[in-house]
Amino acid sequence: MRTLIDESQLDDGVSKLAKEIDSNYGGRPITVVAVMTGSLVLFADLIRRLSMPQRVGVIHASSYRGGTQAGKLEIDSKMLIDVQNRDVLLVDDIYDTGATLTKLSAAIAEMGASSVSTAVLLKKLRPKQIGPKPDFVAFEIPDEFVVGYGLDYLDMYRNLPFIGVLEPDEIEATARQ
Ligand code: HPA
Ligand code: MG
Repeated sequence: MRTLIDESQLDDGVSKLAKEIDSNYGGRPITVVAVMTGSLVLFADLIRRLSMPQRVGVIHASSYRGGTQAGKLEIDSKMLIDVQNRDVLLVDDIYDTGATLTKLSAAIAEMGASSVSTAVLLKKLRPKQIGPKPDFVAFEIPDEFVVGYGLDYLDMYRNLPFIGVLEPDEIEATARQ
C-alpha cells in the first residue's frame, strides 16, 4: 500500500475544512448528515471541530455495481433525523463520479430542507463528473482507487488512519480475505 495522505496531513486538512465551514455558516445552527459508511471517520473528527450548534444524523446510500442493477444508487429512506426547514450539511468521504452526492442532495432538498451544502474529504480529479461540485473539499486527489480513513474496498481498510492507494496484488488478496 502506498500512502497518499498521511495522518498528520489528514489532521490538518480536516481542521482547515472545519474552519471553512465555520466561517461560511457564521455560527448559524446546522443539521450535519453523515453519508454512511464511508464518511464515518471523517464525520467523527469533523463535527467535534465545528463550533456552531448542531443536530447530527446519518443517511445510508449504497451503489450496486455489476449484475443487473449496475450503478443503481439505493437510498435508505429511513433517515433518522428530520431535515425539514433545516440548513443541512451533507458529509461524504469522496466525490468521485458525483452520482451519490447529486442524488442525496436532491433527496434531502425534497424532504423539505431549507438548504443543502456538501462537504467531502476527497475530490477525485477526473473527467465526466456529474452534478454540482461539493461546496467544501479537504483534498483533491488523482484518479486512483484509495482506501483508509473510512474509505473501503469490499468493506475492508476503513480503519486505516491514513489514505492509501491499493496495489494490484492487494486488490486481489482482499477478495480472498
Ligand atoms: N475508494 C473507495 N471508495 C470509493 C472510491 C475510492 O477511490 N471512489 C468511490 N468510492
Ligand atoms: Mg465503498
